[in-house]
Amino acid sequence: MTSLTATVSTPAQVPRVPIPANGVDYRGKIVLAPMVRSGELPSRLLALHYGADLVWGPETIDRALIGAVRQVNPRNGTVEFTRYPSNGGRTEKATKASVIYRIDPAREKDRLVFQLGSAEPELAVQAARVVAGDVSGIDLNSGCPKPFSTHCGMGAALLKTPDKLVAILEALVREVGTPFNIGISVKIRILSTAEETEALSLTVHCRTTPMRPRERAIRDQLRMIADICHKAGVACVMNGDVTSRDEGLALMQEYGVDGAMIATAAEANSSCFRSEAAGGLADWDEVAREYMRFCIESENKFNNTKYLLNMLVPGKHKEFRKPENSRTYADTCRCLGFEELIPAAIPLDERLGLAERWSEKWLEQPEEKKHSEEKAKAVQNAMQNNETARAAGGETRVKSTPVPAHTGGPIRTTSKPAPVKTGKPKGPEPEGPADLPVPSEVVQQSQVTA
Ligand SMILES: Cc1cc2nc3c(=O)[nH]c(=O)nc-3n(C[C@H](O)[C@H](O)[C@H](O)COP(=O)(O)O)c2cc1C
Repeated sequence: MTSLTATVSTPAQVPRVPIPANGVDYRGKIVLAPMVRSGELPSRLLALHYGADLVWGPETIDRALIGAVRQVNPRNGTVEFTRYPSNGGRTEKATKASVIYRIDPAREKDRLVFQLGSAEPELAVQAARVVAGDVSGIDLNSGCPKPFSTHCGMGAALLKTPDKLVAILEALVREVGTPFNIGISVKIRILSTAEETEALSLTVHCRTTPMRPRERAIRDQLRMIADICHKAGVACVMNGDVTSRDEGLALMQEYGVDGAMIATAAEANSSCFRSEAAGGLADWDEVAREYMRFCIESENKFNNTKYLLNMLVPGKHKEFRKPENSRTYADTCRCLGFEELIPAAIPLDERLGLAERWSEKWLEQPEEKKHSEEKAKAVQNAMQNNETARAAGGETRVKSTPVPAHTGGPIRTTSKPAPVKTGKPKGPEPEGPADLPVPSEVVQQSQVTA
């Protein structure tokens, strides 16, 4: 524990704990949350563009990273960690390496935290070493409640094995944080009572493991968590239902935490990181245009680009919704009216093989065949997206709208589970917009950066 706190950031109350030379000070920061799919390089650059102070990358599992090769992309200077996929257990070897993680060393310098999924100190250390020289911090995911993560002891399962959690963190501090001079942090959930959470000591979390992503945040344990962290010289970053920079700064004041982290509001419109004084929320087309620019510059995977564009572009934009209008970067720019991006989009389509995939030959096929292929691909993508998102605690959504602060129901003042309702026949959940919280529910979450 002592070694753990020695390399992490320093709240004002513990002025002697140094910030690691290559690490970052989490205090006073409004940051982008780790998000599988939605936290790839272009989204992080977009958040930074609109004023995020720090960005967390998507959770990456230790085994995916171990053995990855680091290379610099000569076209854009990004650092890519690549490896050959296992090819789903098929006997034939994959012929093309996949990019597991991509970093912009210039624009993300001193601002990027890598999030790791692990249940073993040794694997965690091996994986963290692969990226440690290129990031400012390593964060351990101890909050993901999904079976994909918890069945092998990762994510929120670590909260039930605090000795293992501490062993991983101590190993990371000793073997990675100290030699690389970067911070080690952990993102956790609260337990159902303040006493249980407090007993975790180093580790806290403001959302109970069974709570659903759309349930409203619980903040009653925040001050206690922040106090524990501060006594240990550890910064505490809150997360859960923070929707803008200004709101995050106000919550930091109110609860005495060091920073605030934003996830879903940033997915919907990353300009939430811009304060009202600096212009506040930007229009969707400005945000989507900037996003496309970053996607093209960083050679982002097209499916991933389209996933977040679906969040950023309002549903009424019919041209974009037509699949035949957005099969390539160039097509997508054209239908959204981002003409100036087309010259850079065309060579990228060629490099990624998109132009070829949707060649004239394909378009000349009978309509029926085209639609069945498209449908099969859409189903496959949706299934893959679901798995990854669930694994990291996020739900797959097609589109989202910024959720105004605290309008989806009252902030819960206790983390005790709500009493089971009786006397009503079982029926479907109350209807509401697919992407907004159902009013009777509760959301969560805070986080500690240990
Ligand atoms: C699409 C998506 C993916 C997520 N992936 C991760 C992840 O990789 N690691 C993690 O710790 N949390 C992940 N989360 C949880 C968020 O980081 C955050 O804790 C949660 O959404 C609550 O914050 P919010 O109220 O600002 O959305 C994910 C959430 C979403 C919506």
